[in-house]
Amino acid sequence: MNQVDYLRISLIDRCNFQCQYCMPEGSELEYVRRQDILSQDELLTLLREVFIPNGFTRFRLTGGEPLLRPGVVELVRAIAALPQTQDLSMTTNAFLLAGLAQDLHDAGLRRINISLDSLEPETFDRIVGNRGRSRWQQVWQGIQVAHHVGFDPLKLNVVVIPGVNDHEVPNLAALSIEREWHVRFIEFMPIGNAGLFQDKGWVASETLRQQIRDRWGLVEATVCGNGPADVFKIPGAKGTLGFISQMSECFCDRCNRMRLSADGWLRPCLLNEIGQLDLKTALRSGIPLSEIRLQVHQLLSAKPEINYKQRESGTVGAYARTMSQIGG
Ligand code: GTP
Ligand code: 5AD
Ligand code: SF4
Repeated sequence: MNQVDYLRISLIDRCNFQCQYCMPEGSELEYVRRQDILSQDELLTLLREVFIPNGFTRFRLTGGEPLLRPGVVELVRAIAALPQTQDLSMTTNAFLLAGLAQDLHDAGLRRINISLDSLEPETFDRIVGNRGRSRWQQVWQGIQVAHHVGFDPLKLNVVVIPGVNDHEVPNLAALSIEREWHVRFIEFMPIGNAGLFQDKGWVASETLRQQIRDRWGLVEATVCGNGPADVFKIPGAKGTLGFISQMSECFCDRCNRMRLSADGWLRPCLLNEIGQLDLKTALRSGIPLSEIRLQVHQLLSAKPEINYKQRESGTVGAYARTMSQIGG
């Protein structure tokens, strides 16, 4: 049985982008009310008293866009300082990263994953839903600053959408050659924008690997991480290439994670809501921490069955939240 010790913590459900694959244009998302977002104290209490005693030691901060969370640097400092924290990382769109990278690193964040779906400013802006000044340059600047500050590994996430950015796969892969950057290609999932998905479909990781193999060759490799990526590298490259293949090769049976939403719902699976627990309400209504700890323990015991059900059904289940609300 997999050890489930990786918690993805959504710090805020808001985002300053509106990526087509994540929350389609025109969609009216209802944001969580400020008072319903777990406070820093509540989050730390849950980590100390509930998650760490249940064996969680690896934490990833997500959003929406986690850098929009007021006090994010303090929160990073506090989580990094917990003696049981073995790994702390963040997934961000990097729009606000240039100004925060040094502070985040000083606070104890050592590795970071950044969404970068295109190297073409126009394509990028189309994907992230920009209508004003181009945002590509500011994101690129954020990546450069993160590199100079010393985040290691620095990973770049690319959701590949046929006819939108798949022509850029070789150029994006080439970013891993000269720099120690780790580029990951993610199969587009039918979450967030079903219309776009039906229209465009997805590209299998193996198709991308073949393309890269034909051009440069490809060998197996490793990079530190807790996620489902299969890792390779172009021979001689400084960085690696990861492939996250949730459509072509279900990895539910090796799932090692749970997700905590900004408003305190603990969900055992990205793709369905079976068994999820409302930890914020439990905490605020004064249920003893020992009881909450037990509930999470029981959910951990139920997780293999939930993973199995998800794998068998192969579908997106009772799905009420977008990726931006869950944090990917
Ligand atoms: P590392 O620790 O660096 O390996 O991070 P990670 O790959 O776990 O984190 P990241 O936030 O960069 O995740 C990249 C993408 O992988 C997500 O945005 C999702 O598309 C996909 N992904 C991550 N976890 C799951 C999961 O449990 N199920 C599915 N289907 N996809 C996932
Ligand atoms: N399919 C695959 N990955 C997605 N993400 C968001 N929506 C989707 C989707 N429909 C991922 C992106 C981003 C992270 C927050 O979520 O990789 O980096
Ligand atoms: Fe894009 Fe991430 Fe924001 Fe979703 S949460 S819109 S993937 S930047």
